[in-house]
Amino acid sequence: MSLSVRREVAADVVAIHELNVAAFDGRDEEADLVDALRDSGDLVLSLVAVEQTEVVGHIGFSRVAIETSRGPEGGIALAPVGVQPQRQGVGIGRRLIESGLAELRRLGESVVLVVGNPQYYSRFGFSTELGEDYPCAYSGGSFMALHLDEVAPVATGAVRYPDAFGLVS
Ligand SMILES: CC(C)(COP(=O)(O)OP(=O)(O)OC[C@H]1O[C@@H](n2cnc3c(N)ncnc32)[C@H](O)[C@@H]1OP(=O)(O)O)[C@@H](O)C(=O)NCCC(=O)NCCS
Repeated sequence: MSLSVRREVAADVVAIHELNVAAFDGRDEEADLVDALRDSGDLVLSLVAVEQTEVVGHIGFSRVAIETSRGPEGGIALAPVGVQPQRQGVGIGRRLIESGLAELRRLGESVVLVVGNPQYYSRFGFSTELGEDYPCAYSGGSFMALHLDEVAPVATGAVRYPDAFGLVS
């Protein structure tokens, strides 16, 4: 089935909420997180995966603050990513993550942070070792970072997530 990935539009908002509830086993924390990030203006990039006219996947990227030695600088948090349960395991998550990272690179972003399974996210270049340079509320074995520009020096420092992340346990 043909799959397209594009930025969200206003008409997708309800479908994105429902998709996230379904992807996360019926709980609404991640769906509410996306709505709150959108409302607060912190959702930098929100992509949907669409088959025919149906939203089958979603990924959100939001702004975080990195306290660098030069002062605060912007980074990006990847969260959440979700795929409709019946469509998991066929590459939709990969398409969303790769499309999102490519777009962030195009936008000139340099650092992306994620909390998740290192076995999955390492295939996109995320590293727990790099994550150690970004102490924050999520520090630990599931916290990873990715530098989008492998040449330019990248800001490191303590990270502050948007308040909306308090919605997720
Ligand atoms: C995680 C998720 C987004 C991946 O999307 P997907 O379309 O199912 O994944 P893909 O088809 O691109 O990739 C499949 C691979 O990812 C692995 N994988 C999927 N979910 C995983 C997870 N939570 N942890 C580790 N590996 C995972 C599969 O084992 C498979 O591995 P393989 O390529 O070696 O066979 C999707 O499974 C999902 O929505 N899960 C529920 C919500 C969730 O946990 N989101 C992530 C936390 S923010």
